[in-house]
Amino acid sequence: MENFNFYVPTDVRFGKDRLGELPEVLNEFGKRVLLVYGGGSIKRIGLYDKLMTILKDNGNEVFELSGIDPNPRIESVREGVALCREHQVDVVLAVGGGSVIDCSKVICGATFYEKDAWDLVLSRNYAGPALPLVTILTLSATGTEMNRNAVISNLKTRQKLGIYGKNLLPKASFLDPQNTYTVSQYQTLAGSADILSHLMEQYFDLTPGTEVQDSIAEALMKTVIQCLPVALKEPDNYDARANLMWASTLALNGLPGTGRKGAWSCHPMEHELSAFYDITHGIGLAILTPRWLDHVLNEKTLPKIERFARNVWGITEKDAMTAAKMGIQALYDFFVLNGVPMTLPAVGINSEGEFEAMARQAVDHSTIATAAFSPLNVEDVVAIYQACM
Ligand code: NZQ
Ligand code: ZN
Repeated sequence: MENFNFYVPTDVRFGKDRLGELPEVLNEFGKRVLLVYGGGSIKRIGLYDKLMTILKDNGNEVFELSGIDPNPRIESVREGVALCREHQVDVVLAVGGGSVIDCSKVICGATFYEKDAWDLVLSRNYAGPALPLVTILTLSATGTEMNRNAVISNLKTRQKLGIYGKNLLPKASFLDPQNTYTVSQYQTLAGSADILSHLMEQYFDLTPGTEVQDSIAEALMKTVIQCLPVALKEPDNYDARANLMWASTLALNGLPGTGRKGAWSCHPMEHELSAFYDITHGIGLAILTPRWLDHVLNEKTLPKIERFARNVWGITEKDAMTAAKMGIQALYDFFVLNGVPMTLPAVGINSEGEFEAMARQAVDHSTIATAAFSPLNVEDVVAIYQACM
Protein backbone atom coordinates (compact mmCIF):
# COMPACT_ATOMS: atom_id res chain seq x y z
CA MET A 1 0.00 0.00 0.00
CA GLU A 2 1.23 3.52 -0.85
CA ASN A 3 1.29 6.44 1.60
CA PHE A 4 -1.82 8.60 1.49
CA ASN A 5 -3.74 11.52 3.02
CA PHE A 6 -7.42 11.07 3.70
CA TYR A 7 -9.10 14.34 4.63
CA VAL A 8 -12.67 14.74 3.38
CA PRO A 9 -14.42 17.11 5.78
CA THR A 10 -17.83 17.34 4.04
CA ASP A 11 -20.65 17.53 6.57
CA VAL A 12 -22.86 14.71 5.23
CA ARG A 13 -26.51 14.93 6.30
CA PHE A 14 -27.89 11.60 5.15
CA GLY A 15 -31.49 10.49 5.41
CA LYS A 16 -35.14 11.43 5.23
CA ASP A 17 -36.55 14.95 5.51
CA ARG A 18 -33.57 16.85 6.89
CA LEU A 19 -33.97 20.11 4.98
CA GLY A 20 -35.05 21.81 8.21
CA GLU A 21 -31.32 21.78 9.01
CA LEU A 22 -30.45 23.80 5.90
CA PRO A 23 -30.67 27.28 7.52
CA GLU A 24 -28.24 26.31 10.27
CA VAL A 25 -25.79 25.06 7.61
CA LEU A 26 -26.15 28.06 5.28
CA ASN A 27 -26.07 30.70 8.01
CA GLU A 28 -22.48 29.76 8.76
CA PHE A 29 -21.51 31.34 5.44
CA GLY A 30 -23.96 34.22 4.97
CA LYS A 31 -27.38 35.15 3.66
CA ARG A 32 -26.78 35.73 -0.05
CA VAL A 33 -27.30 32.42 -1.83
CA LEU A 34 -26.84 31.39 -5.47
CA LEU A 35 -29.28 28.53 -6.10
CA VAL A 36 -28.06 26.38 -9.01
CA TYR A 37 -30.23 23.72 -10.63
CA GLY A 38 -30.84 21.88 -13.90
CA GLY A 39 -33.64 21.59 -16.41
CA GLY A 40 -36.52 21.57 -13.95
CA SER A 41 -36.62 18.17 -12.23
CA ILE A 42 -36.35 19.89 -8.83
CA LYS A 43 -39.54 21.79 -9.62
CA ARG A 44 -41.37 18.66 -10.76
CA ILE A 45 -40.48 16.81 -7.54
CA GLY A 46 -41.58 19.70 -5.33
CA LEU A 47 -38.11 20.32 -3.94
CA TYR A 48 -37.84 23.84 -5.37
CA ASP A 49 -40.99 25.07 -3.60
CA LYS A 50 -39.91 23.50 -0.31
CA LEU A 51 -36.49 25.15 -0.58
CA MET A 52 -37.87 28.56 -1.46
CA THR A 53 -40.10 28.49 1.61
CA ILE A 54 -37.19 27.49 3.85
CA LEU A 55 -34.87 30.11 2.37
CA LYS A 56 -37.50 32.85 2.58
CA ASP A 57 -38.27 32.02 6.20
CA ASN A 58 -34.53 32.13 6.93
CA GLY A 59 -34.22 35.61 5.45
CA ASN A 60 -31.95 34.55 2.59
CA GLU A 61 -31.49 36.65 -0.50
CA VAL A 62 -31.69 34.12 -3.34
CA PHE A 63 -30.24 34.45 -6.85
CA GLU A 64 -30.88 31.67 -9.35
CA LEU A 65 -28.94 29.94 -12.10
CA SER A 66 -31.06 27.28 -13.81
CA GLY A 67 -30.87 25.15 -16.94
CA ILE A 68 -27.56 23.43 -16.21
CA ASP A 69 -27.23 20.73 -18.89
CA PRO A 70 -26.19 17.13 -18.34
CA ASN A 71 -22.48 17.26 -19.23
CA PRO A 72 -22.39 20.85 -17.90
CA ARG A 73 -21.11 23.53 -20.22
CA ILE A 74 -18.47 26.16 -19.58
CA GLU A 75 -21.01 28.83 -20.66
CA SER A 76 -23.13 28.01 -17.57
CA VAL A 77 -20.09 28.36 -15.36
CA ARG A 78 -19.41 31.82 -16.80
CA GLU A 79 -23.01 32.84 -16.14
CA GLY A 80 -22.75 31.70 -12.55
CA VAL A 81 -19.48 33.54 -12.01
CA ALA A 82 -21.05 36.76 -13.27
CA LEU A 83 -23.99 36.35 -10.85
CA CYS A 84 -21.71 35.62 -7.89
CA ARG A 85 -19.58 38.67 -8.58
CA GLU A 86 -22.48 41.01 -9.32
CA HIS A 87 -24.48 40.03 -6.22
CA GLN A 88 -21.58 39.32 -3.87
CA VAL A 89 -22.89 35.86 -3.18
CA ASP A 90 -21.85 34.27 0.14
CA VAL A 91 -22.60 30.62 -0.59
CA VAL A 92 -23.61 28.47 -3.57
CA LEU A 93 -26.43 25.95 -3.09
CA ALA A 94 -26.36 23.24 -5.78
CA VAL A 95 -29.52 21.16 -6.09
CA GLY A 96 -29.40 18.28 -8.55
CA GLY A 97 -27.17 15.58 -9.96
CA GLY A 98 -23.47 15.57 -10.77
CA SER A 99 -23.80 18.09 -13.58
CA VAL A 100 -25.35 20.77 -11.36
CA ILE A 101 -22.89 20.15 -8.54
CA ASP A 102 -19.84 20.09 -10.84
CA CYS A 103 -20.91 23.30 -12.55
CA SER A 104 -21.37 24.88 -9.11
CA LYS A 105 -17.92 23.78 -7.95
CA VAL A 106 -16.23 25.52 -10.84
CA ILE A 107 -18.40 28.62 -10.33
CA CYS A 108 -17.19 28.67 -6.71
CA GLY A 109 -13.55 28.65 -7.79
CA ALA A 110 -13.77 30.77 -10.93
CA THR A 111 -15.45 33.62 -9.03
CA PHE A 112 -12.01 34.32 -7.56
CA TYR A 113 -10.02 33.48 -10.71
CA GLU A 114 -8.63 36.38 -12.65
CA LYS A 115 -8.65 34.63 -16.04
CA ASP A 116 -11.56 32.99 -17.89
CA ALA A 117 -13.30 30.04 -16.25
CA TRP A 118 -12.18 27.72 -19.07
CA ASP A 119 -8.54 28.56 -18.25
CA LEU A 120 -9.25 27.38 -14.73
CA VAL A 121 -10.55 24.06 -16.11
CA LEU A 122 -7.54 23.77 -18.43
CA SER A 123 -5.23 24.14 -15.41
CA ARG A 124 -6.68 20.76 -14.24
CA ASN A 125 -5.62 21.49 -10.66
CA TYR A 126 -6.90 24.62 -8.92
CA ALA A 127 -5.37 25.53 -5.58
CA GLY A 128 -6.94 28.99 -5.21
CA PRO A 129 -9.83 30.16 -3.06
CA ALA A 130 -13.47 29.26 -3.66
CA LEU A 131 -16.91 30.25 -2.42
CA PRO A 132 -18.40 27.73 0.03
CA LEU A 133 -20.61 25.11 -1.63
CA VAL A 134 -23.57 23.26 -0.11
CA THR A 135 -25.25 20.50 -2.13
CA ILE A 136 -28.59 18.72 -2.17
CA LEU A 137 -28.09 15.58 -4.24
CA THR A 138 -30.98 14.24 -6.35
CA LEU A 139 -29.26 11.49 -8.38
CA SER A 140 -26.93 8.74 -7.16
CA ALA A 141 -23.96 8.43 -9.49
CA THR A 142 -20.89 10.61 -9.48
CA GLY A 143 -19.79 10.95 -5.86
CA THR A 144 -19.21 14.67 -6.50
CA GLU A 145 -21.19 15.40 -3.31
CA MET A 146 -18.13 14.38 -1.30
CA ASN A 147 -15.08 14.97 -3.48
CA ARG A 148 -12.96 17.74 -4.94
CA ASN A 149 -13.51 16.93 -8.65
CA ALA A 150 -15.64 18.52 -11.35
CA VAL A 151 -16.05 17.71 -15.04
CA ILE A 152 -16.91 20.48 -17.50
CA SER A 153 -17.59 20.36 -21.24
CA ASN A 154 -16.61 22.84 -23.91
CA LEU A 155 -18.56 21.80 -26.99
CA LYS A 156 -16.84 24.43 -29.14
CA THR A 157 -13.39 22.90 -28.59
CA ARG A 158 -14.83 19.37 -28.26
CA GLN A 159 -13.28 18.95 -24.84
CA LYS A 160 -14.67 17.47 -21.65
CA LEU A 161 -12.15 17.84 -18.87
CA GLY A 162 -11.90 16.98 -15.22
CA ILE A 163 -10.59 19.51 -12.75
CA TYR A 164 -9.44 18.89 -9.19
CA GLY A 165 -9.56 21.70 -6.65
CA LYS A 166 -8.57 21.38 -3.03
CA ASN A 167 -11.11 24.07 -2.07
CA LEU A 168 -13.92 22.74 -4.27
CA LEU A 169 -15.05 20.10 -1.77
CA PRO A 170 -18.66 20.72 -0.67
CA LYS A 171 -18.88 22.09 2.88
CA ALA A 172 -22.07 20.12 3.43
CA SER A 173 -24.17 17.68 1.41
CA PHE A 174 -27.78 16.71 2.06
CA LEU A 175 -28.38 13.16 0.87
CA ASP A 176 -32.06 12.26 1.05
CA PRO A 177 -32.70 9.05 -0.92
CA GLN A 178 -36.37 10.07 -1.32
CA ASN A 179 -35.19 12.81 -3.69
CA THR A 180 -34.06 10.08 -6.11
CA TYR A 181 -37.43 8.27 -6.37
CA THR A 182 -38.24 10.18 -9.57
CA VAL A 183 -34.94 9.52 -11.36
CA SER A 184 -35.84 7.79 -14.65
CA GLN A 185 -34.99 4.14 -15.32
CA TYR A 186 -32.34 5.27 -17.81
CA GLN A 187 -30.65 7.70 -15.42
CA THR A 188 -30.89 5.19 -12.57
CA LEU A 189 -29.14 2.69 -14.79
CA ALA A 190 -26.54 5.22 -15.93
CA GLY A 191 -25.91 6.35 -12.36
CA SER A 192 -25.38 2.82 -11.11
CA ALA A 193 -23.07 2.03 -14.03
CA ASP A 194 -21.10 5.14 -13.07
CA ILE A 195 -20.81 3.99 -9.44
CA LEU A 196 -19.65 0.54 -10.58
CA SER A 197 -17.17 2.13 -12.94
CA HIS A 198 -15.68 4.35 -10.22
CA LEU A 199 -15.16 1.26 -8.12
CA MET A 200 -13.67 -0.76 -10.99
CA GLU A 201 -11.36 2.06 -12.09
CA GLN A 202 -9.82 2.06 -8.63
CA TYR A 203 -9.97 -1.71 -8.03
CA PHE A 204 -8.27 -2.72 -11.29
CA ASP A 205 -4.85 -1.62 -10.26
CA LEU A 206 -1.55 -3.35 -9.68
CA THR A 207 -0.47 -1.73 -6.38
CA PRO A 208 0.19 -4.62 -3.99
CA GLY A 209 -1.18 -4.83 -0.43
CA THR A 210 -4.45 -2.90 -0.80
CA GLU A 211 -6.70 -5.49 0.82
CA VAL A 212 -8.80 -2.93 2.73
CA GLN A 213 -9.45 -0.86 -0.39
CA ASP A 214 -10.13 -3.94 -2.54
CA SER A 215 -12.56 -5.43 -0.04
CA ILE A 216 -14.43 -2.13 0.36
CA ALA A 217 -14.70 -1.86 -3.44
CA GLU A 218 -16.00 -5.43 -3.73
CA ALA A 219 -18.61 -4.84 -1.02
CA LEU A 220 -19.81 -1.64 -2.71
CA MET A 221 -19.94 -3.31 -6.13
CA LYS A 222 -22.03 -6.15 -4.71
CA THR A 223 -24.33 -3.60 -3.10
CA VAL A 224 -24.96 -1.87 -6.44
CA ILE A 225 -25.48 -5.20 -8.22
CA GLN A 226 -28.06 -6.15 -5.60
CA CYS A 227 -29.87 -2.79 -5.30
CA LEU A 228 -30.05 -1.60 -8.92
CA PRO A 229 -32.64 -4.18 -10.08
CA VAL A 230 -34.74 -3.40 -6.99
CA ALA A 231 -34.65 0.36 -7.65
CA LEU A 232 -35.58 -0.21 -11.30
CA LYS A 233 -38.56 -2.34 -10.33
CA GLU A 234 -39.66 -0.27 -7.34
CA PRO A 235 -38.43 3.31 -7.85
CA ASP A 236 -39.59 4.34 -4.38
CA ASN A 237 -37.96 1.48 -2.49
CA TYR A 238 -36.22 3.51 0.22
CA ASP A 239 -33.55 0.98 1.14
CA ALA A 240 -32.53 0.31 -2.46
CA ARG A 241 -32.28 4.06 -3.17
CA ALA A 242 -30.49 4.68 0.14
CA ASN A 243 -27.87 2.03 -0.50
CA LEU A 244 -27.28 3.26 -4.05
CA MET A 245 -26.89 6.80 -2.74
CA TRP A 246 -24.42 5.95 -0.01
CA ALA A 247 -22.53 3.64 -2.39
CA SER A 248 -22.20 6.49 -4.89
CA THR A 249 -20.72 8.75 -2.23
CA LEU A 250 -18.31 6.19 -0.80
CA ALA A 251 -17.20 4.99 -4.23
CA LEU A 252 -15.57 8.31 -5.03
CA ASN A 253 -14.77 10.06 -1.76
CA GLY A 254 -11.30 8.52 -1.75
CA LEU A 255 -12.08 5.54 0.47
CA PRO A 256 -11.55 2.72 -2.08
CA GLY A 257 -8.91 4.68 -4.00
CA THR A 258 -6.36 5.85 -1.46
CA GLY A 259 -3.08 4.00 -1.18
CA ARG A 260 -2.96 3.11 -4.86
CA LYS A 261 -0.94 4.67 -7.64
CA GLY A 262 -2.58 3.61 -10.92
CA ALA A 263 -4.49 5.67 -13.48
CA TRP A 264 -8.11 5.24 -14.55
CA SER A 265 -8.79 3.82 -18.02
CA CYS A 266 -12.47 3.92 -19.00
CA HIS A 267 -13.23 7.46 -17.82
CA PRO A 268 -10.68 9.08 -20.15
CA MET A 269 -12.10 7.02 -23.04
CA GLU A 270 -15.70 7.88 -22.08
CA HIS A 271 -15.03 11.59 -21.65
CA GLU A 272 -14.11 11.72 -25.34
CA LEU A 273 -17.36 9.96 -26.31
CA SER A 274 -19.27 12.59 -24.34
CA ALA A 275 -17.14 15.45 -25.68
CA PHE A 276 -17.70 14.39 -29.31
CA TYR A 277 -21.25 12.98 -29.09
CA ASP A 278 -22.71 14.34 -25.80
CA ILE A 279 -23.82 10.87 -24.63
CA THR A 280 -24.80 9.93 -21.06
CA HIS A 281 -21.64 9.37 -19.01
CA GLY A 282 -22.66 6.20 -17.16
CA ILE A 283 -24.03 4.49 -20.28
CA GLY A 284 -20.77 5.17 -22.13
CA LEU A 285 -18.87 3.59 -19.25
CA ALA A 286 -21.09 0.50 -19.22
CA ILE A 287 -20.51 0.00 -22.94
CA LEU A 288 -16.75 0.45 -22.67
CA THR A 289 -15.86 -1.45 -19.50
CA PRO A 290 -16.39 -5.12 -20.51
CA ARG A 291 -14.65 -4.45 -23.86
CA TRP A 292 -11.76 -2.77 -22.05
CA LEU A 293 -11.42 -5.69 -19.61
CA ASP A 294 -11.38 -8.13 -22.55
CA HIS A 295 -8.70 -6.04 -24.24
CA VAL A 296 -6.40 -5.83 -21.20
CA LEU A 297 -6.76 -9.40 -19.94
CA ASN A 298 -3.20 -10.73 -19.89
CA GLU A 299 -0.80 -12.52 -17.54
CA LYS A 300 -0.19 -9.40 -15.47
CA THR A 301 -3.83 -8.37 -15.06
CA LEU A 302 -5.22 -11.89 -14.72
CA PRO A 303 -4.99 -12.22 -10.90
CA LYS A 304 -7.09 -9.11 -10.27
CA ILE A 305 -9.67 -9.89 -12.94
CA GLU A 306 -9.92 -13.45 -11.62
CA ARG A 307 -10.42 -12.08 -8.08
CA PHE A 308 -13.17 -9.79 -9.42
CA ALA A 309 -14.88 -12.77 -11.04
CA ARG A 310 -14.78 -14.85 -7.88
CA ASN A 311 -15.45 -12.21 -5.18
CA VAL A 312 -17.95 -10.01 -7.00
CA TRP A 313 -19.72 -12.48 -9.29
CA GLY A 314 -19.29 -15.71 -7.34
CA ILE A 315 -17.59 -17.56 -10.21
CA THR A 316 -16.28 -20.94 -8.99
CA GLU A 317 -14.64 -22.22 -12.20
CA LYS A 318 -11.18 -23.64 -11.36
CA ASP A 319 -9.15 -22.43 -14.36
CA ALA A 320 -8.03 -18.85 -13.69
CA MET A 321 -8.28 -17.53 -17.26
CA THR A 322 -11.68 -19.11 -17.84
CA ALA A 323 -12.91 -17.72 -14.50
CA ALA A 324 -11.68 -14.21 -15.40
CA LYS A 325 -13.48 -14.35 -18.76
CA MET A 326 -16.65 -15.53 -17.04
CA GLY A 327 -16.42 -12.54 -14.68
CA ILE A 328 -16.20 -10.13 -17.61
CA GLN A 329 -19.16 -11.85 -19.25
CA ALA A 330 -21.14 -11.62 -15.99
CA LEU A 331 -20.56 -7.85 -15.91
CA TYR A 332 -21.71 -7.56 -19.55
CA ASP A 333 -24.78 -9.73 -18.90
CA PHE A 334 -25.69 -7.68 -15.82
CA PHE A 335 -25.80 -4.50 -17.89
CA VAL A 336 -27.81 -6.20 -20.67
CA LEU A 337 -30.26 -7.71 -18.19
CA ASN A 338 -30.93 -4.31 -16.63
CA GLY A 339 -31.49 -2.66 -20.00
CA VAL A 340 -28.27 -0.83 -20.91
CA PRO A 341 -27.94 -0.30 -24.68
CA MET A 342 -24.59 -2.05 -24.98
CA THR A 343 -23.19 -0.78 -28.29
CA LEU A 344 -22.12 2.62 -29.59
CA PRO A 345 -24.65 2.54 -32.48
CA ALA A 346 -27.34 1.99 -29.84
CA VAL A 347 -26.48 5.44 -28.41
CA GLY A 348 -26.30 7.08 -31.83
CA ILE A 349 -22.60 6.67 -32.68
CA ASN A 350 -22.75 4.95 -36.04
CA SER A 351 -19.40 5.76 -37.59
CA GLU A 352 -15.78 5.00 -36.71
CA GLY A 353 -14.68 8.26 -38.33
CA GLU A 354 -13.81 10.09 -35.09
CA PHE A 355 -12.24 7.13 -33.25
CA GLU A 356 -8.65 8.10 -34.03
CA ALA A 357 -9.18 11.73 -32.94
CA MET A 358 -10.98 10.67 -29.76
CA ALA A 359 -8.30 8.10 -28.94
CA ARG A 360 -5.57 10.68 -29.40
CA GLN A 361 -7.33 13.08 -27.03
CA ALA A 362 -7.97 10.31 -24.48
CA VAL A 363 -4.25 9.59 -24.41
CA ASP A 364 -3.25 13.28 -24.39
CA HIS A 365 -5.66 14.26 -21.59
CA SER A 366 -4.69 11.44 -19.20
CA THR A 367 -1.93 9.08 -18.17
CA ILE A 368 -3.52 5.91 -19.58
CA ALA A 369 -0.50 5.36 -21.83
CA THR A 370 1.86 5.07 -18.88
CA ALA A 371 0.09 4.48 -15.56
CA ALA A 372 -3.05 2.44 -16.34
CA PHE A 373 -3.81 -1.10 -15.11
CA SER A 374 -2.57 -2.11 -18.56
CA PRO A 375 -1.09 0.85 -20.49
CA LEU A 376 -3.19 1.91 -23.47
CA ASN A 377 -1.86 3.69 -26.56
CA VAL A 378 -3.90 5.28 -29.34
CA GLU A 379 -4.24 1.96 -31.24
CA ASP A 380 -5.49 0.21 -28.09
CA VAL A 381 -8.14 2.86 -27.50
CA VAL A 382 -9.27 2.70 -31.14
CA ALA A 383 -9.53 -1.10 -30.87
CA ILE A 384 -11.64 -0.77 -27.72
CA TYR A 385 -13.98 1.73 -29.41
CA GLN A 386 -14.22 -0.65 -32.40
CA ALA A 387 -15.13 -3.55 -30.12
CA CYS A 388 -18.13 -1.47 -28.97
CA MET A 389 -19.62 -1.22 -32.50
O1 NZQ B 1 -31.52 18.80 -15.28
P1 NZQ B 1 -32.59 18.17 -14.47
O2 NZQ B 1 -33.94 18.63 -14.81
O3 NZQ B 1 -32.30 18.26 -13.00
O4 NZQ B 1 -32.61 16.59 -14.87
C1 NZQ B 1 -31.54 15.72 -14.64
C2 NZQ B 1 -30.76 15.37 -15.91
O5 NZQ B 1 -31.58 15.45 -17.04
C3 NZQ B 1 -32.08 14.39 -14.22
N1 NZQ B 1 -32.34 14.31 -12.77
C4 NZQ B 1 -31.50 14.57 -11.75
N2 NZQ B 1 -32.12 14.32 -10.57
C5 NZQ B 1 -33.38 13.93 -10.87
C6 NZQ B 1 -33.53 13.91 -12.26
N3 NZQ B 1 -34.68 13.57 -12.87
C7 NZQ B 1 -35.72 13.23 -12.07
N4 NZQ B 1 -35.64 13.19 -10.73
C8 NZQ B 1 -34.50 13.54 -10.09
N5 NZQ B 1 -34.43 13.46 -8.75
O6 NZQ B 1 -31.07 13.46 -14.57
C9 NZQ B 1 -30.40 13.93 -15.73
C10 NZQ B 1 -28.91 13.70 -15.57
O7 NZQ B 1 -28.38 14.49 -14.55
P2 NZQ B 1 -26.79 14.67 -14.38
O8 NZQ B 1 -26.56 15.58 -13.24
O9 NZQ B 1 -26.18 15.00 -15.68
O10 NZQ B 1 -26.32 13.17 -14.02
P3 NZQ B 1 -25.11 12.65 -13.19
O11 NZQ B 1 -25.33 12.83 -11.73
O12 NZQ B 1 -24.88 11.28 -13.66
O13 NZQ B 1 -23.87 13.59 -13.58
C11 NZQ B 1 -23.15 13.37 -14.77
C12 NZQ B 1 -22.02 14.36 -14.89
O14 NZQ B 1 -21.04 14.19 -13.84
C13 NZQ B 1 -19.74 13.97 -14.40
C14 NZQ B 1 -20.07 13.30 -15.71
O15 NZQ B 1 -18.98 13.30 -16.60
C15 NZQ B 1 -21.23 14.13 -16.20
O16 NZQ B 1 -20.80 15.34 -16.73
N6 NZQ B 1 -18.90 13.24 -13.45
C16 NZQ B 1 -18.48 13.87 -12.35
C17 NZQ B 1 -17.62 13.29 -11.44
C18 NZQ B 1 -17.13 14.01 -10.24
N7 NZQ B 1 -17.38 15.29 -10.13
O17 NZQ B 1 -16.47 13.44 -9.37
C19 NZQ B 1 -17.11 11.94 -11.63
C20 NZQ B 1 -17.84 11.17 -12.66
O18 NZQ B 1 -16.99 10.17 -13.13
C21 NZQ B 1 -18.36 11.95 -13.81
O19 NZQ B 1 -17.36 12.15 -14.80
ZN1 ZN C 1 -17.91 8.59 -13.63
